[in-house]
Amino acid sequence: MAKATIRYVCQACGAVTPKWAGRCETCGEWNTVEEEAVVARPGPAAKQQPGRSIAFVGLAGTAEPPPRAAIGIAELDRVLGGGLVPSSAVLVGGDPGIGKSTLLLQAAAKLARSGKRVLYVSGEESIDQIRLRARRLGVADSAIGLAAAINVRDIVAALEQAQDTTLVVIDSIQTMWMDAIDSAPGTVAQVRACSFELIRLAKAGNFAVVLVGHVTKDGALAGPRVLEHMVDAVLYFEGDRGHQFRILRAVKNRFGATDEIGVFEMTDAGLAEVPNPSALFLAERRGNIAGSAVFAGLEGTRPVLVEVQALLAPNPGGSPRRSVIGWDSGRLSMLLAVLETRAGLRLNQTDVYLNIAGGLRVTEPAADLAVAAAIASAAFEAPTSPGMVYFGEVGLSGEVRQVAQAEARLKEAAKLGFDAATLPRRVAHGNRRLAAPDGLRLEEIGHISDLVGRFAPESGTKKL
Ligand code: TYD
Ligand code: MG
Repeated sequence: MAKATIRYVCQACGAVTPKWAGRCETCGEWNTVEEEAVVARPGPAAKQQPGRSIAFVGLAGTAEPPPRAAIGIAELDRVLGGGLVPSSAVLVGGDPGIGKSTLLLQAAAKLARSGKRVLYVSGEESIDQIRLRARRLGVADSAIGLAAAINVRDIVAALEQAQDTTLVVIDSIQTMWMDAIDSAPGTVAQVRACSFELIRLAKAGNFAVVLVGHVTKDGALAGPRVLEHMVDAVLYFEGDRGHQFRILRAVKNRFGATDEIGVFEMTDAGLAEVPNPSALFLAERRGNIAGSAVFAGLEGTRPVLVEVQALLAPNPGGSPRRSVIGWDSGRLSMLLAVLETRAGLRLNQTDVYLNIAGGLRVTEPAADLAVAAAIASAAFEAPTSPGMVYFGEVGLSGEVRQVAQAEARLKEAAKLGFDAATLPRRVAHGNRRLAAPDGLRLEEIGHISDLVGRFAPESGTKKL
């Protein structure tokens, strides 16, 4: 007879302890340790089946891999690496209310329109609510198979009979439940067991399963990281409630690149693709203001222009504040130190606020030069020239370093009507000509002090 024992599992990090605690000793989170019942496996004394021998095969197979199913939403297909891979599992994470259900209903409808069989299982909304949403999205006529269910055993029974299915959406994995596990839906044990079962079915049934997962406040998928390594791809849907646009970002993808983003705009009729994000991010830019510089960035394979804003406020005596939105605060500290020691820009009695306008999160070191330009521009109250973009990495000795894909960045800048770019000086051995678009003036700089010098008044002294 299998015996049930009790153990305590942290819902944030998955650590198991024999005793309950208010605070997880492994990850330090409060109130995350919960009781779980485990049914003990029969001990070694019990009769066990010997394993069957597995067959090994060579790398060069004869079978063609099945083709990907392109969904037809370009922004989504690109992040997936070209469409859905049969027998794969994708996790779509994001804050509640960010638009995951909307995106997946639209994707399901689009795929169903191309004649594929698509099933949508919701554990959060009733059939009527989903129908209402479908009507709002203008996809009510598409032939999706819809179900409201939370019992994975029932779902499995239904899916085993559903032949030729291309996509199954499970919205959300935290509402799913298996009676074999004696804990509530949304706990680590349930999420893990339900996902395992659904993923196993996807592998056997040749369809792609998309699991929707809500994230917790600290950004980890609730029920938590255990899911990330079980699936083939992890996509995060992010954005600011204050902003209309949403970004779909791949953080793991066994079948594609992980730095791709898809940009969408939330409208009255659901999510609309944004094929040209630069125009969106720069839409509210006002020229001729000190402290603003346009960064020619790269998100995956796509160049994206964003505005970097810096605000400096004097703070004599106190310890200066550094506040960053959309960029790495450690990187800002480094850049401020470089500006101070290598270019003489004293900011130790100044609060520095940095913002990537529009809510985008920039991770590229290539943004250094644009950030430095925004700070220098704010420090000397001298606006950057309105038609100028910036890109380049800044090293600790103040040198400005080359970054990848300069040509793609320049091309995007020219496309959006910019007429000049400040970029790293090409080193002597790089003898390949930089193919800059016609009419784009290139200003190459080798050291951060050259950049600061452009904003400094003739006297060379700083106003602040
Ligand atoms: P939803 O997809 O339900 O979020 P999630 O599944 O991630 O929890 O998105 C809900 C939000 O999207 C809600 O605040 C309303 C908004 N929304 C629109 O603005 N337009 C629309 O057409 C739809 C369907 C939703
Ligand atoms: Mg939802």
